[in-house]
Amino acid sequence: MPKTAKSKQPVDVADLTKAQAKVEWKRLALELETHDRLYYQDDAPKISDAAYDELRRRFNAIEARFPELVSSESPSQKVGAAPSGRFRKVRHAVPMLSLDNAFAEEDVRDFAGRIARFLKLADDRIDFSAEPKIDGLSMSLRYEGGELVTAATRGDGAEGEDVTANIRTLKDVPLKLHGRNLPDVCEVRGEVYMTKQAFLALNERQKEAGDTIFANPRNSAAGSLRQKDPTITASRPLGFFAYAWGEMSAMPAETQSGMIKWFEHCGFTTNPLTKLCHSVEELIAFHRSIEEQRAELDYDIDGVVYKVDRIDWQERLGFVSRTPRWGIAHKFPAERAMTVLKDIEIQVGRTGSFTPVGKLEPIGVGGVIVQNVTLHNEDYIKGIGNKGEVLREGRDIRIGDTVVIQRAGDVIPQVVDVLIDKRPADAEEFHFPKTCPCPLHTDVVREEIATGEEGSRARCTGEFACPYQKIEHLKLFASRRAFDIDGLGEKQIQFFFDQDWVKEPADIFTLQKRNAKLKLEEVEGYGETSVRNLFNAIDARREIALERFIFALGMRHVGETTALALARGYGSWEAFHEACLKVAAGDEEAIAEMDALDQIGDTVIKSVAAYFAEDHNRGIVERLTKEVKILDAEKPKRNSPIATKTVVFTGTLEKMTRDEAKATAERLGAKVSGSVSKKTDYVVAGPGAGSKLKDAQKHGVQVLTEDEWLQLIGE
Ligand code: IVH
Repeated sequence: MPKTAKSKQPVDVADLTKAQAKVEWKRLALELETHDRLYYQDDAPKISDAAYDELRRRFNAIEARFPELVSSESPSQKVGAAPSGRFRKVRHAVPMLSLDNAFAEEDVRDFAGRIARFLKLADDRIDFSAEPKIDGLSMSLRYEGGELVTAATRGDGAEGEDVTANIRTLKDVPLKLHGRNLPDVCEVRGEVYMTKQAFLALNERQKEAGDTIFANPRNSAAGSLRQKDPTITASRPLGFFAYAWGEMSAMPAETQSGMIKWFEHCGFTTNPLTKLCHSVEELIAFHRSIEEQRAELDYDIDGVVYKVDRIDWQERLGFVSRTPRWGIAHKFPAERAMTVLKDIEIQVGRTGSFTPVGKLEPIGVGGVIVQNVTLHNEDYIKGIGNKGEVLREGRDIRIGDTVVIQRAGDVIPQVVDVLIDKRPADAEEFHFPKTCPCPLHTDVVREEIATGEEGSRARCTGEFACPYQKIEHLKLFASRRAFDIDGLGEKQIQFFFDQDWVKEPADIFTLQKRNAKLKLEEVEGYGETSVRNLFNAIDARREIALERFIFALGMRHVGETTALALARGYGSWEAFHEACLKVAAGDEEAIAEMDALDQIGDTVIKSVAAYFAEDHNRGIVERLTKEVKILDAEKPKRNSPIATKTVVFTGTLEKMTRDEAKATAERLGAKVSGSVSKKTDYVVAGPGAGSKLKDAQKHGVQVLTEDEWLQLIGE
């Protein structure tokens, strides 16, 4: 698939203005929701775990800096995605939450330090259970009177899917718990996984039968479990490691390690690498040792998990929104692999920019088979970075080279190095094309993506006359991020375009009217039902949010974030459209008004002006707006009594620790400050409060007792 231009490096969260943070928060929230759905419901992730973690990390950092952005709708308050509807829903008696991630050793030290402070203990007194983080699907098994009654997937954390019939076929899951004096209700939680060997064998069989090929063992475990027919699940070898619990009518142990032993007594398999650690250094050594063993293990793991061993301490530590304070996942860094670069192809994106794509000898990296790798631009291939810096110690990339690739932070993996000593004598230097491969063979200009000035990115100047750009625009238009039309994916768009049935966006909405002549139901692959479904899906998108509409126009430099900023800035299509026409006509007042919006600068203004200065584009917009209704932009929701308020805690709190109070306030969207000023909204004062109480009186800030505070926040 041709790739479009990549955005420049994001601004550091610490440097974001509040308005920028809001826009980015929304964009990331939408992105995370999409990826959660793809991962949890469709078993078809589109980005690597590392890329997902990076998005999640940035999102959390934004919420930590601007807690007023947190709402109950925020992805930070949810886990996974709602059940898919194929199976009966099961409400979890105890929610199935997830773990926060640590990437660096420093994060692990911070984690242990936080716990020690919270519990007011020296950190060398805290034992941790350290366990491999199995890359499978979490499962909750409910036993009543010792018998398995329900097996449910995690779903969105509150409700999962009932997969009992399928789980009953797993040899690692006892149908009846072993032992005596069992609690009446026991919910045993753990991970369902498929071994790497079983995954490869299954894919071989699937390939022969012409069935779905799974991207990795996790997806194949998910696909195998979500079968309506349990005999299919039974034919797929799935394993289960027990490591946690949900509702328990009585606790059979006082520690995490004790619970793991108890699971074994009950007939479960637990992970043999699990270890009780007595210090942070031991945790870090555990991480290293497991990482070294990772490749030899016959199941995928993506890190290790540390959990405070004492359950009474876990209970005291509790949760911060969706993750526990007592546990963390220490993830492994992105994986690398070596392979041969067989060819380089140029792909032309929606805005005409060229992306050289390396075609690789297929290679497995982190459980995914990689065949394509982005080579970014002409300079990158030569060993020159965006700012003119030397890459790979100046080594260029040639066809035939052995390259080291890495799957991290990107849909398409990266080349991180070239092995010169493996370069064959006939390795071919790549000559970047001087004209577009489209039938117009237009000249290529080189420019900087962000500014449009002379730079490293080559671009076809054919604009809407270039068929590559037209088709890429239509694909973007119908995609999930824009109009999100079900059943109108890239393949279908290509087909309609090749038939001359859809040449511009408005044509999508007139398809049904024209179908008396076109007779889509007679096309191979379409029947009456699928045609009806397609037209219904198109009709369902005749109403569209303003930001999506602006993004869907496909103007250069107007990605989702910018589209949202424009939508929020103008509020309605009419206002935005009028402004764009004025900007295109050079109206200085309109330009100044657009320039004053957060996130909008010269590059965007120039692009909007260029777009609306073109008759052709104005025609596209005019025909399209006759077909759809564009909804006004939404204002962000705020739904807690203390959202956006600034709070100061002082004195001794009796019902909670200071950390707990701060965490709760932040979860509800308040900012917790260490000093009182006239901007403070509330001072919560316990016994022994001193100068801050005086400051509150001086600035006329409302002072609350701990009980009044708890009443205010409804806890
Ligand atoms: S404990 C409160 N232990 O990782 C959550 N999780 O992000 C307690 N996982 O949803 C989970 N191995 O699917 C735990 N040894 C382990 C795990 C593990 C894999 C998965 C699980 C969970 C996710 C956490």
